[in-house]
Amino acid sequence: MAERGEPGADLATQVIRVFERQYGETPAGRWAAPGRVNLIGEHTDYNDGFVLPFALPQRTVVAATPVDEPLWTVWSEQTGERITFDGEQADKPGHVTGWGSYVAGVVWALRDAGHPVPGARLAIASDVPPGAGLSSSAALESAVLTALADLGRLGLPVEARPALAQRAENVYAGMPCGVMDQAASIRCRAGHALFLDCRSLDLEHIPFDPAAAGLAVLVIDSRAPHRHVTGEYAARRAACESAARALGVPALRDVPLDGLAAALDRLDDDVVRRRVRHVVTENQRVLETVALLRAGDVTAIGPLMTASHVSMRDDFEITVPEVDTAVAAALSAGAYGARMTGGGFGGCVLALVDADRAETVADAVTAAYVDHGFTPPVWFTAAPGAGATALS
Ligand code: GLA
Repeated sequence: MAERGEPGADLATQVIRVFERQYGETPAGRWAAPGRVNLIGEHTDYNDGFVLPFALPQRTVVAATPVDEPLWTVWSEQTGERITFDGEQADKPGHVTGWGSYVAGVVWALRDAGHPVPGARLAIASDVPPGAGLSSSAALESAVLTALADLGRLGLPVEARPALAQRAENVYAGMPCGVMDQAASIRCRAGHALFLDCRSLDLEHIPFDPAAAGLAVLVIDSRAPHRHVTGEYAARRAACESAARALGVPALRDVPLDGLAAALDRLDDDVVRRRVRHVVTENQRVLETVALLRAGDVTAIGPLMTASHVSMRDDFEITVPEVDTAVAAALSAGAYGARMTGGGFGGCVLALVDADRAETVADAVTAAYVDHGFTPPVWFTAAPGAGATALS
């Protein structure tokens, strides 16, 4: 199996050259925001529940300079495309499509909230792999938001930023995601996982240093083709919201674990019952994971990760054969726990492994893939990185 190279240490340098080549001038500044993995707490965010993501070292870097008119010119080094949109186009959700919708969406969300967003020239470079469920779109939104907030001196409190970036994605790009990915990209801290209450948006940085415990988090890109992701995601969200209405609670967060059996009795659709059971038990698994990390018992979170995967596979039904195969093979090869991370229907698997066995476990996953005739996966190990920031 191929190991991904070190995340581009020199992206920040590269983006200056890219900007200069595109615009013939030096940028006023540079900003960066990371992709993320979610340690545990899947499809809980839009149910007002708990999540525990951490930021990846892979990030999106934006170089930018303000201009005097409401006009945004954006170069993507990843796609080799330049797009331009003006204020009127930014004000029409859906007008700019593709990757540009995440940039225009941020401009829209800021303008819609009444902020005097400056026009700008931007150049973007990234080593967050797109389409791998590592939140490349949230990294782009968060990097652009951070850049525009600084360039315009908008005085935007960091607490308010994730919800704005989420609105960009929900309304402008049309993806009904929760707030986890944008919160992770903006608010994570190196060496920590982000324990976020998605209702209050209260958060706590939980120390998470697998290397200090002789461990590693292996991130395996399943390479499964993402199919119908937005439609299936929206269907899961709608099922959860209708279950909450049927149960007479504001959100499934309000179904306590000891009230789960009674709540399930009140629902007559078996599929909906399983969706509810996933969300309620997953919230509990996040709380238990946080308690174990606080107690410094990192390997003990493994069984919770695996239980989360089983719940996603059997109750929420968002896994695919590739990720199930990767999880099973990682566990057979000695991982303490393994689970799919992110929205599902492909994407990445996390495995908690002894640091000196990362390669062995990855090889075992590759061997299982060969047996199944799947496209070989790609892997790397990830330590918790920093959230969005200006680069000096
Ligand atoms: C995607 C969404 C998030 C979250 C996860 C599942 O990453 O963007 O808001 O719902 O799926 O946990």
